[in-house]
Amino acid sequence: MSRLEQVKQSLDSAGQAHVLRFWSELSEEQQEGFLQDLVLLDLQALKEHCEAACRAAAAPNSCTLDPDMEPVPPEITGSARSDPEVLTRWEDQGLLQISKNRVAVLLLAGGQGTRLGVPYPKGMYDVGLPSRKTLYQIQAERIHKVQELADRRHSSKCTIPWYIMTSEFTLTPTQTFFKENNFFNLEPSDIIMFEQRMIPTVTFDGKVILESKGKIAMAPDGNGGLYQALVDHKVLEDMEQRGVEYVHVYCVDNILVKMADPVFIGFCVSRGADCGAKVVEKVHPAEPVGVVCRVRGLPQVVEYSEVRPETAQLRGPEGELVYRAGNICNHFFSRTFLQDVAEKFKDDLKQHAALKKVPYVDSCGNQLKPAEPNGIKMEKFVFDVFPFSRNFVVFEVIRKDEFSPLKNADGAALDTPTTVRTSLMDQHRRWVCAAGASLLDGDGNEIGARISESTDPVKCEISPLVSYFGEGLELLKGTKLQTPLILDEKTTKVLLGQRGSGQI
Ligand code: UD1
Repeated sequence: MSRLEQVKQSLDSAGQAHVLRFWSELSEEQQEGFLQDLVLLDLQALKEHCEAACRAAAAPNSCTLDPDMEPVPPEITGSARSDPEVLTRWEDQGLLQISKNRVAVLLLAGGQGTRLGVPYPKGMYDVGLPSRKTLYQIQAERIHKVQELADRRHSSKCTIPWYIMTSEFTLTPTQTFFKENNFFNLEPSDIIMFEQRMIPTVTFDGKVILESKGKIAMAPDGNGGLYQALVDHKVLEDMEQRGVEYVHVYCVDNILVKMADPVFIGFCVSRGADCGAKVVEKVHPAEPVGVVCRVRGLPQVVEYSEVRPETAQLRGPEGELVYRAGNICNHFFSRTFLQDVAEKFKDDLKQHAALKKVPYVDSCGNQLKPAEPNGIKMEKFVFDVFPFSRNFVVFEVIRKDEFSPLKNADGAALDTPTTVRTSLMDQHRRWVCAAGASLLDGDGNEIGARISESTDPVKCEISPLVSYFGEGLELLKGTKLQTPLILDEKTTKVLLGQRGSGQI
C-alpha cells in the first residue's frame, strides 16, 4: 500500500476523510508537503483527540472543581513581605545556588499572543520605554546582572542557562531576533531554544479544520506541552550535563519578571521544595489570573475561566478574598521533579478546551476568517503537574514589584503596553528615590515622590545591567537627576566620574 493510501485509510477510520477533499487540486509539490505533514501526525490518536475536543467543548464545566477547592495553607507559604533578615537569608541561598551553576531559567514563549495582536513573538515587542528595549532584551540583561551578583558574592564565574520553549509560530523569528541582536551579549551556547508540539484544531462537530486546501490548522499544545518538549529535545539531559538542579519557569509577558530570582529560589531550596509557584494577591474576584489552591488536598491552579464566579467572590472574615493567591506563571521546579513528570506523569495531564476563531477553507474551497469562534484548541497547562509534587510551596510577592503582564493592545483597560511601561518606570522612580536622589521635571522642579498617573509616568528607566532589584544605586545619593532619565552603564560611569571629581 502506498503512503497516500495508508494515510487515506487512517483518516477514514478516524472519521476525517474530508482532510483530503482538495487533494486533486494540489500541485505535486503541495501534495508531497501535505503528505509529509500527515505522516507526522499521530493518526491513531486523531480520532480520540477529535472526540475529546468535542466532549470538552460541549460541556466545559461539567466536572467543576469548585466544591473540592480550598485555599493554600499558610504553612506552605512564604512572603516577600517577610523580615529583612529572612529575605536576606533566602537571597544568600539563591545566589549561592546560582554561583554553583545549579540554576536555569526556562521561558515559555510558544504562545501566539493573539490578544496583543502582533504577527511576531511577544518577546520581540517594544513597549515604548525611553530605551526602546524589547521584553527579550530586558530579560537577557537581568540574566547578566543576576549572574554578576552571584559572582560578586561568591567569587565565581557562573552561568544561568536560558532555555526557551518556542512553537512553529515563534521559533524562526525568535532565533533570527536573537542572532540579529548578538544574543544580547550572552553566550549563544547558553541559550537553548526548543520547539513544543503542534496539534490539530477541531470543529464543534469533531472535524479537523483545514487552514488551506493542503494544510491542517494546527495550534501549539499549550504551555503544558513543555513536558513533552523536554523529552522530545532531550532538554533534561542537557540540564543534567550542565549540573542544573533548579529551574525557574516563567512566561514571556511580565515586564517585571525577576529572572532566576535569588529570593524565590532561596526560599524554595531552603524548604526542600520540588515545585513552587509565585503568587500575587488578586485585586478583584474577576481578575483573569489562575488561583493557586488545593483541590482534594492536592496543590493545583484553577484557571480563571474554570472557576465559578460565586467561588471567586467568596470572602473571609476580614473581607479578604478566600481564593486570592493569583498565579503569575512563575514556577520553581527541581530537575528531579521534572524528570519524574517526564517519565511518569506527562501523559496524564488534563486537556483544556479553548474556543477560538480559526481561519479555514469551507467545503467549496473558499478561505474564510470567522467572526465568531468556530474551532476548539486543546491545551495542556504548565501548572497541571502541581498535584504530582511531594513538597509544594507558594511564595507571595508584591504586585507592584513583580507583576505587570503585557496581554492586550493599547486601548484595553488592563495589561497593555502603556500599563506595563508605566509599572516599570514607576518601579525605577521608586528605586531612585529610595537611593536618596531626586528627579527633576522639564522645568527643573523636583518631582519628589509624586505618584505618577498611569498615562503619564515620570520617564525614569534603569538598565537591568545597572540594577536587578534596586541594589547598587548608592552612587545616586544626594543627586538631582533630570528626566527623562535613562540610567545605563554609560550614564552610571559619568555619574561616578562626577562624584570622583566632586561635581556632585
Ligand atoms: C497564564 C496562566 C494564568 C496566570 C497568567 C498570569 C497558564 C495556563 N495560565 O495565563 O494562570 O494567571 O498567565 O499572567 O499558564 N505559551 C506557550 N505555549 C502555548 C501557549 C502559551 O509557551 O502553547 C506561553 C505563552 O507564550 C506565555 C505563557 O505560556 O509566555 C502564558 O500563556 P498565556 O496564553 O499568555 O496565558 P494566560 O492566559 O495569560
